Amino acid sequence: MFAGSAPGRVNLIGEHIDYNGGMVLPAALSVGLKVELTPRSDDSVIIRADHYDDIAQRSLDEDATEHWSDPALGALRQARALGLITDGANLTIRSTIPEGSGLSSSAALIVAILKAARAASGSMINDTQIAVEARKVENDFMGVPCGIMDQMAVALAKPGTAMALNTKTLAHDIVELPQSHSVIVVHSGLTRRLTDGRYAERKIECDTAKAHFGTNDLCLIDPADIAGSSLKEPYRKRALHCANEHRRVLTAIEAIKSGDIAALGEAIRASHTSMRNDFEMSLPAIDALVHDAVELGADGARLTGGGFGGCIVAIVEKGRQTAWLKQLLTRHPGARFIGAI
Ligand code: GLA
Repeated sequence: MFAGSAPGRVNLIGEHIDYNGGMVLPAALSVGLKVELTPRSDDSVIIRADHYDDIAQRSLDEDATEHWSDPALGALRQARALGLITDGANLTIRSTIPEGSGLSSSAALIVAILKAARAASGSMINDTQIAVEARKVENDFMGVPCGIMDQMAVALAKPGTAMALNTKTLAHDIVELPQSHSVIVVHSGLTRRLTDGRYAERKIECDTAKAHFGTNDLCLIDPADIAGSSLKEPYRKRALHCANEHRRVLTAIEAIKSGDIAALGEAIRASHTSMRNDFEMSLPAIDALVHDAVELGADGARLTGGGFGGCIVAIVEKGRQTAWLKQLLTRHPGARFIGAI
């Protein structure tokens, strides 16, 4: 039996720019998952998960079927393609990451299985390569055209710290979070799936903008050049979000490093406005949650993750945290506390 694990992640700032050449700032959470992998000598795949009643019995050559076990099956197929396993496997999954919340439960599962398969093979494949292979499972097996942020965060970040990640080069730095404030994750109560088509629609819109400017790196274009271009809507505002969001991430990283919470909060609040108006990935109920989070005393709050549901992330002074959370959940009974860093 071989073990692998990975945490959930929350993105502090930098949304939908990890497939547009931008910088992102995810942080690893204390919720996470653990996988135990026992190689088999046939092509069967038997998957047990503590959060599902049924035991998935699949074959290594099957395609995705929209079953909860798809990411696990895809990870094993990738592990076989990499020579980390030769046949099927029995998997046991224990998870504390809520699914459908935008906290990367799927990326964590794939990464944890690839790490367990690495342990089984004795391979020297490193964590960055594991992240790159895990993204291929999402893109090619699951059909989700996601970027590399989640896989890098859950493969490399240590719980409690943030990772400044350049998604173009995969260069990354650990950023210590401010001692005075907590990063709080609150679920909106609205679940989301990256496979529902809206994530892919935004990706296609960004691809249209990239083709217009003849670049792969929408984030690196000067926002003034986008604003003054002949690119039509909604592509123009999608591109503007990307270029501005990338710059907000750079501001946020500097603000954290210099302890400037006001500047960090401003960047986080501006990010939400941009996601709402330019990238159009929010929902009225989430806008209301973010609005109230700030009104009740958060320095900054924003929708986090792929959008159209899931969680918000807020920066709140430690001494205010308990009262703030109580008031926010009283105003929004459908919302729930997920965790804090
Ligand atoms: C999902 C994707 C990521 C990223 C975010 C949005 O989490 O998996 O690659 O694009 O949405 O920032």
